[in-house]
Amino acid sequence: LNNGLALTPTMGWLHWERFMCNTDCDADPENCVREELFMEMADVMVNEGWKDAGYEFVCIDDCWPSMQRDAEGRLQADPKRFPSGIKKLADYIHSKGLKLGIYADVGTKTCEGYPGSLGYYDIDAKTFAEWGVDLLKFDGCFMPDWRQLGEGYMNMSRALNQTGRSIVYSCEWPLYEWQHQQPDYEPIRKTCNHWRNYGDVYDQWTSVTSILDWTANHQKILVPMAGPGGWNDPDMLVIGNFGLSHDQQQTQMAMWAIMAAPLLMSNDLRKICPQSKELLQNKEIISINQDSLGKQGYLTLQVASFEVWERPLSGNRLAVAVMNRQEIGGPRRITINDVSLPSWKICNPKCNVTQILPKYQDMGIQSRVSEIVVLVNPTGTTLFTVNPL
Ligand code: GLA
Repeated sequence: LNNGLALTPTMGWLHWERFMCNTDCDADPENCVREELFMEMADVMVNEGWKDAGYEFVCIDDCWPSMQRDAEGRLQADPKRFPSGIKKLADYIHSKGLKLGIYADVGTKTCEGYPGSLGYYDIDAKTFAEWGVDLLKFDGCFMPDWRQLGEGYMNMSRALNQTGRSIVYSCEWPLYEWQHQQPDYEPIRKTCNHWRNYGDVYDQWTSVTSILDWTANHQKILVPMAGPGGWNDPDMLVIGNFGLSHDQQQTQMAMWAIMAAPLLMSNDLRKICPQSKELLQNKEIISINQDSLGKQGYLTLQVASFEVWERPLSGNRLAVAVMNRQEIGGPRRITINDVSLPSWKICNPKCNVTQILPKYQDMGIQSRVSEIVVLVNPTGTTLFTVNPL
């Protein structure tokens, strides 16, 4: 969407995967969806280096509204869990130098059964703009006629634009359209700043691999659509939770950087282990994700249960991720040369190779005929950049 926003993939935090629709604030005040959760996350984001690393958006997902619209037909926040209202929350988030995201749905109800926006697009866009919202995640549940998904998403895009406020527009249009037919991505790119294509991420390795496999299988359609202002969204980062080993967390971070994906963490930043924090704040990986060329990476080679993905970067540079998909045995070696990696030709006459994961390591100056050997743990990823000299 050409609204001047999301020129690089959006970075921030989104409550869904970790906190879901937990509305039981009496029994579980620390983890229920209420204003304090977002205020505390904002505090930590400023105090613990997240904001400095580039994470800017604090995003509310489903289950924030009251079950009833107000007398004027406007959405309102649940009065028990958001007693100060969303405008006050937005003011607080803005006072920290951060931005606020909110959630609504193109159909009659949200996926969890809260009021949907169908018939209210203009009112809701205006309400969000008045509150000072900076991002809208617009879900696709309960659309009475799926053929009207496109019209709904386009009308909301127009309504947001008409408010005059800069609001990043995050869609799930293709995800819901794929259930019926292959979407036409041209209008999607014109309408949205990023769009979900595939099912929800879970805190689980097979969920991460199914997202990667689906993306690789559809890369011919998806990759050309990504660029400044519009991104494919493979869903949240679940790093720092319970389900992924450290190697698997490294894989998610590396691959989300290669895919030019929005980096929306869903975890508890108030209690996250130092290793996951260091990974999520890794400057080299973030700078690959945020590269100004804005070209999405793709799978280029599958051999011996390795996957090689590459992403062209600005300055004729290249990011390469080598994933070990074999889930038996130990670390395995793979040789990278101009045969296994045709784009290695950028090393003619010379290039500089820097390994970023599993740990930072200068791999020296190489030439077109050089070979480098990388070692990759099962379900792990080795990530490196290649800089022509
Ligand atoms: C859908 C979306 C999720 C989340 C939930 C909320 O499943 O894909 O990302 O927003 O709805 O109900």
